Amino acid sequence: MIKIRLANINDAEYITRINIDTWRSNYAGIVPDEHLNSLSYNVEAYQRTINNPNNVVYVAEYNGIVVGYICSGIDSSPDAPASSKLRMAYVRKEYQNKGIGKQLFIKIAEHLHKSGHNTLSANTFARADSNFFYSSLGGNICKKTVENIGGKDIDTVTYLFNL
Ligand SMILES: CC(C)(COP(=O)(O)OP(=O)(O)OC[C@H]1O[C@@H](n2cnc3c(N)ncnc32)[C@H](O)[C@@H]1OP(=O)(O)O)[C@@H](O)C(=O)NCCC(=O)NCCS
Repeated sequence: MIKIRLANINDAEYITRINIDTWRSNYAGIVPDEHLNSLSYNVEAYQRTINNPNNVVYVAEYNGIVVGYICSGIDSSPDAPASSKLRMAYVRKEYQNKGIGKQLFIKIAEHLHKSGHNTLSANTFARADSNFFYSSLGGNICKKTVENIGGKDIDTVTYLFNL
């Protein structure tokens, strides 16, 4: 049974592990191995993410264990395509493709809409499976860029959603 709820500070450890483990399971072959191996579990950083009043963070619990999370924030850059930005959306590899990411997305989209946001952007690697996820949720590519991670230039895309 999946339960979607707002995150609290006690979720920081789960969220940290999900983030790093999912980068390693989903981005191997896209992001250099040396970079993936160098990632460290920084729980304090995710405590700050949860506590930041500009962020909205929901988690998905399966039988009391957090297996995924989603986080939005404010995009304050001058050329921001949307008022809100999806900063992270991660579901543990063994729980992917079961509808959990979609439930998280719908919940945060409703929350942002009620808070007065009409648009949301989301970045992802151009070669990642998350492109299927974002397009199935109605996102359209509005920008393409290149990001240097671990010394490698990686194509990224930005999706725009109307909330
Ligand atoms: C992207 C991610 C959050 C999606 O969560 P999920 O629980 O696996 O996705 P869901 O099962 O809810 O899928 C929702 C929709 O996306 C589609 N989808 C998701 N992954 C897909 C894939 N690999 N191939 C094809 N379609 C896919 C599903 O078919 C579904 O479409 P439908 O509603 O029309 O049936 C998850 O796969 C993940 O953590 N990926 C690695 C991290 C990442 O890239 N995050 C995004 C950038 S921050």
